[in-house]
Amino acid sequence: MSARPVAAITGLGTAVPPRVMTNAEFEKYLDTSDQWIQERTGIRERRIATPDQSLAAMCQEASQRALTRAGLSADQLDAIILGTVTPDRRLPATACDLQALLGARGAAAFDIAAACPGWVYALAIAEGLIASGRFKKVLALGAEKLSTVTDWNDRGTAVLFGDGAGACIVQPAGEDGRGILSVVLGADGKLADLLYIPGGGASDPVSQKVVDERSHYIKMAGREVFKAAVHTMAKACEQALTKAGVSAQEIDLLIPHQANLRIIEATAKHANVPMSKVMVNVDRYGNTSAASIQLAIDQALEEGRIKPGSLLLLVTFGAGFTWGSAVIRW
Ligand code: ACO
Repeated sequence: MSARPVAAITGLGTAVPPRVMTNAEFEKYLDTSDQWIQERTGIRERRIATPDQSLAAMCQEASQRALTRAGLSADQLDAIILGTVTPDRRLPATACDLQALLGARGAAAFDIAAACPGWVYALAIAEGLIASGRFKKVLALGAEKLSTVTDWNDRGTAVLFGDGAGACIVQPAGEDGRGILSVVLGADGKLADLLYIPGGGASDPVSQKVVDERSHYIKMAGREVFKAAVHTMAKACEQALTKAGVSAQEIDLLIPHQANLRIIEATAKHANVPMSKVMVNVDRYGNTSAASIQLAIDQALEEGRIKPGSLLLLVTFGAGFTWGSAVIRW
């Protein structure tokens, strides 16, 4: 018997900047090629925001779509939770700027930093707030402007990332069994330095030295992250399935974090889900960190691959290391 949900996603929306950056653009100034990028990552292009396209504005666009789909207006929201590691400003939380843009007067608003799993973390917090009876309408987002923390001269990371936003409305589940059946969250801070931004934080505040050393940009030990991602996501899939009381065979669609096609394929294999039941759009957007799963869900909805009642398995992994997984009856 599968678990009984207490909360459900009642509307989802996404937004990406219009500017498309292809692999060919990297060929012009980096020692790389479209062929290498496609073969090693599956990425063909990504979206890049301009400096005047704020993260809050991207979130607003995604949120308005989610609100429309849920049949709600912004002033009905009780809380806004934004998973991001690229807030517009250090202070205040971008969720507060978003609250003002949406006109969600009085709604609680805060950011959480959990890297790529940021949205699954936000979703779990939203579910918990609903389960406690404190709130009834929560906006949970994952959004990033990774282009602002990408070292455009580092071929090992520059080709991987993109910008985007995803938003969903979480409300108490109805009696039809649809909703969040399980959530698994985890972290291992001992491995933090395999994927991190060394400078610009409180331990090494912004200075000329930080800028000269380019330590305000993402540093990543790609191979190590790759191995940890596959191993951890496979385990997280298993845990979410067990917790939800469903088998891998019952899953209609696996929606993994879109970091690298090879990681996605290895995760699906370990999780015993055939690639025909895996959503992939890393080719279009690259790794958008906390936004990636919602961008994949939205495209799957558009393509008719998710229908009311579909059983979804979500899984994600990122800097921290952090990870998360969930089983959702859509
Ligand atoms: N073009 C050409 N060659 C490149 C490029 C590039 N863009 N990038 C790296 N290389 C080279 C390396 O320098 C290396 O050369 P060498 O053998 O002469 O030293 C060679 O390619 C192989 O490098 P690897 O790192 O072993 O390549 P790999 O097959 O592992 O692919 C990649 C690299 C794509 C980064 C991969 O390791 C990966 O996807 N890692 C995980 C990233 C990820 O999942 N991050 C998730 C979290 S992201 C977040 O939290 C924000």
